[in-house]
Amino acid sequence: MNHKRILVTSALPYANGPLHIGQIAGAYLPADIYVRYQRLKGRNVIYICGSDEHGVPITVTADHENITPQDVVDRYHAMNRSSFEKLGIAFDHYSRTSIPLHHQKTQEFFLILEKKKDLVVKESEQFYSEVSHRFLPDRYVEGTCPFCGYDKARGDQCDRCGKWLESKELIDPRSKLDGSRPVLKPTKHWYLPMGRFAKAWKNWFDQHAWKENVRNYCIGWYKEGFTDRPITRDLHWGVPVPHQEAKGKVLYVWFDAPIGYISSTMEWAQKQGDPDLWKTYWCDPETKLVHFIGKDNIVFHAILFPMILMEVGGVVLPDAIPANEYLTIEGRKISTSQNYAIWLNDYLDRFPPDALRYTLAANAPETKDTDFSWKQLQRRNNDELADILGNFINRTLTFADRYFNRKVPERRSLDKLDNQMLKQIVVTRDQMGTCLEHFEVREGTKQLMDLCRFANKYFNDQAPWETRISDPERCQTTINICLQTIRALSVLMIPILPFTSEKVQRVLKLKDPNQWEDVGEKEFLSGHQLGRPEIFFEKIEDQVIENEIKAFLGMGAEGQKDMETGSKTISLETLKQIDLRTAKVLEAKKIEGTDKLLQLKIDLGDTTRQIVAGVAESYTPDQMIGKTLVVVANLQPAQIRGIESQGMLLAVQTEKGYTLLTTEDPVGPGLQVE
Ligand code: MF3
Ligand code: ZN
Repeated sequence: MNHKRILVTSALPYANGPLHIGQIAGAYLPADIYVRYQRLKGRNVIYICGSDEHGVPITVTADHENITPQDVVDRYHAMNRSSFEKLGIAFDHYSRTSIPLHHQKTQEFFLILEKKKDLVVKESEQFYSEVSHRFLPDRYVEGTCPFCGYDKARGDQCDRCGKWLESKELIDPRSKLDGSRPVLKPTKHWYLPMGRFAKAWKNWFDQHAWKENVRNYCIGWYKEGFTDRPITRDLHWGVPVPHQEAKGKVLYVWFDAPIGYISSTMEWAQKQGDPDLWKTYWCDPETKLVHFIGKDNIVFHAILFPMILMEVGGVVLPDAIPANEYLTIEGRKISTSQNYAIWLNDYLDRFPPDALRYTLAANAPETKDTDFSWKQLQRRNNDELADILGNFINRTLTFADRYFNRKVPERRSLDKLDNQMLKQIVVTRDQMGTCLEHFEVREGTKQLMDLCRFANKYFNDQAPWETRISDPERCQTTINICLQTIRALSVLMIPILPFTSEKVQRVLKLKDPNQWEDVGEKEFLSGHQLGRPEIFFEKIEDQVIENEIKAFLGMGAEGQKDMETGSKTISLETLKQIDLRTAKVLEAKKIEGTDKLLQLKIDLGDTTRQIVAGVAESYTPDQMIGKTLVVVANLQPAQIRGIESQGMLLAVQTEKGYTLLTTEDPVGPGLQVE
């Protein structure tokens, strides 16, 4: 079908932390590129998103920081919105799900389903913490995934295999709130009997050509059979279940969040001064609805939400779900809980947005996971953006500045190479366009850079620095064509490199509205006045990248400041490198000529060691002998006052001096401290 308009959404990110570049590569950049391209094609397109402000992770953060969930979402909604803007993700509207409009719309959906008798109310057993006296929905519980055995599966979904779980299914469950083993307690909930809608869903699903990962995932799930799924939770944060008797119950976050696409469009329409405009997008079958998501969201966008939409009726269903695979960083899976991520706001504080956009686009995880590394960012920025694209623009503009007074020279008769160059612009425009139309960002990005390579070769082959003397008309023609090429590039670049495009167009003094179809067609007239050449891409120095890698792998990955103590967090692996053991003091004596130092001989179980300790002002040698201490057994030896110290004892410094770390009960020497 030829659609009249396109409605593009990106997964609403949880307002529960900063965005990381994996999310950008998966759901936001590809969508932004697609939307920018559609705008250039003159299509009627809107791009809708917002913060997902419900769900257990947000209440967990609030509990942890002792603030309200609203405080949490206010903080991250503002932060993420601003990061998106700095990265040039150009939403038409960025809403949030804690607003009344969204709550109303969600409740309306629930009531429609209920009225159609599409919901089942059941009493069932849910996990409850007897320590915290509350139910433990979703992520309040962690345990082992019954499908893949991952031992940190969350109550609602397994991060490793992506299965949508019910917490009851977890093996060996633990409360995330207090570590206790939860008990099962009966409670009443509303279920969506998905099995009932399976046939209608399958009918619809089969009518579309889905991306392979979406197809495989959904068909796999369909074959296993759809079961009843609870869509309510015992929680206080969320959209309340619209019933008197449902106090303390809210709708499941995955029921309300996708409805956020609709409520966000409604809010957008209000802001346009035409409150009903949302219906044009959501209710007219001539709209093409496209959901950009990461692969962990497939089940919700391709099964759950379409089912709900189908049952509610009168709204469009998705036409395309270009779900992306994951981005790994330096070879490892991103983990926000382990702080293994590159945070977008952090990145943008130090590096330009287009370098990241380009790197992620050129390496988009479209059909398989792909890896981001700092070296790759540097290489793509320096060797491609600066040395190929930037170089071509720069050498042309510099030449025009120096020899043509920054005026576009006249085009004379064309030779074979000129014609090839002009043709290549149009070929690239069409091929790149086809790629972007089909969500093939990687290939589209390659086409763009290949055109720049072609242009550099054209410049070299025409050698305008020679023809300037030998054949001035030839030189004029060459520079004219190079400038036309830059003009074309400045438009082709918009989806991927919007900031650079803007700068280039400023220098070109281009004022017409940009249109994809004009590329290669609309050209400079000779005599057009250009601005002064500028540098469009700064190179990223080796040292800067080395520091990033060091910070990232050394401590950056694990080394963010812990909120409460202000110290850097470390991983368990790092901690385990420290060999702490019990040790019994066999001998002790003061070190001559010092006030503070004692020389000790300690028993480490299977060996004895000599250590130097600075506790002489707090303990006499006699007081030390016979004590069982805690020592670092694998500290590299050091010479202190000419005496070798082969370890370090642990002590606490107070106003009165040192007090030694010992064990509560008497224990033998050489035991591991864990
Ligand atoms: N907040 C979810 C996530 O980050 C995505 C929600 S997408 C929506 O995984 F459809 F629910 F909006
Ligand atoms: Zn699993």
